[in-house]
Amino acid sequence: MSVFDLKSKNLIFKKARTHNDWLDQDISNDILKEIYDLMKWGPTSANCSPARIIFVKSKVSKDRLLPFVIESNLEKTKSAPVTAIIGYDINFHDHLPKLFPHNLDAQNWFNHSIDIAEETAFRNGSMQGAYFIIAARALGLDCGPMSGFDKEGVDNEFFRGTNIKSNFLCNLGYGDKTKLFERSPRFKFNEICEII
Ligand SMILES: Cc1cc2nc3c(=O)[nH]c(=O)nc-3n(C[C@H](O)[C@H](O)[C@H](O)COP(=O)(O)O)c2cc1C
Repeated sequence: MSVFDLKSKNLIFKKARTHNDWLDQDISNDILKEIYDLMKWGPTSANCSPARIIFVKSKVSKDRLLPFVIESNLEKTKSAPVTAIIGYDINFHDHLPKLFPHNLDAQNWFNHSIDIAEETAFRNGSMQGAYFIIAARALGLDCGPMSGFDKEGVDNEFFRGTNIKSNFLCNLGYGDKTKLFERSPRFKFNEICEII
C-alpha cells in the first residue's frame, strides 16, 4: 500500500477538477496563509523561490483586476471568493544569500544575464504555481487556473515599480461540482512516456 493513500490521490489529482462555478463560501485568511506555508516547501533551483503571490480578496481589489481578465474568464473570476495572482520576481537572486546561505556565490549564477534570470524565475515560479494548486487542493479548496488575461495590464496595476511579472491567475474557492462538464481525457503512459 502506498503511503499516499487513495483518498489523498483523489483529493490532489484523480478527482480534483478545474472549477468555474463557486459555492457561496468564504475562504479565511488563515487558509490562504496555510497554502503558502505548504507550497513554500516545494523545491526550486538553488532554493531561489521566485514566486510572488497577491491574494485578491476584497471587492475593491477584485475591481482593479477584472478589467484585465478576458471575457470568458470574467464571471468565474468575479464570483470566486479569492483570485491569486501568481507572479515571479526576476530579481530573485538578490535574496539568495538568505535562501541559499551555504553557497554565497549562488547569486552570481544568475545576476550576470537577464535571460538566465528570466528563464530561471519563470521555470521555478511556474513550478511553485503547481505547488500552489496542490497545496490548495490538500487544504480542501478548489482551483481555477487561468492564463487568459492581459499580463501587461496586471503587471502595471499590481507590480508597477518592481521586477515582478505575472504568470497566471488562479481562482480559489469551494467549487460547485454540479456545474462541472465531463472530464477531458489524458494521454496514456505509453503515448508520452518512455522508460529507457
Ligand atoms: C496555466 C493554466 C492556464 C489556464 N487558463 C485557462 C483560462 O484562461 N480559461 C479557462 O477557462 N481555463 C483555463 N485553464 C483550465 C484548463 O483548461 C483545465 O485546467 C484543463 O482543461 C483540465 O481540466 P480538469 O482539471 O477539470 O481536468 C488553465 C489551466 C492552467 C493550468
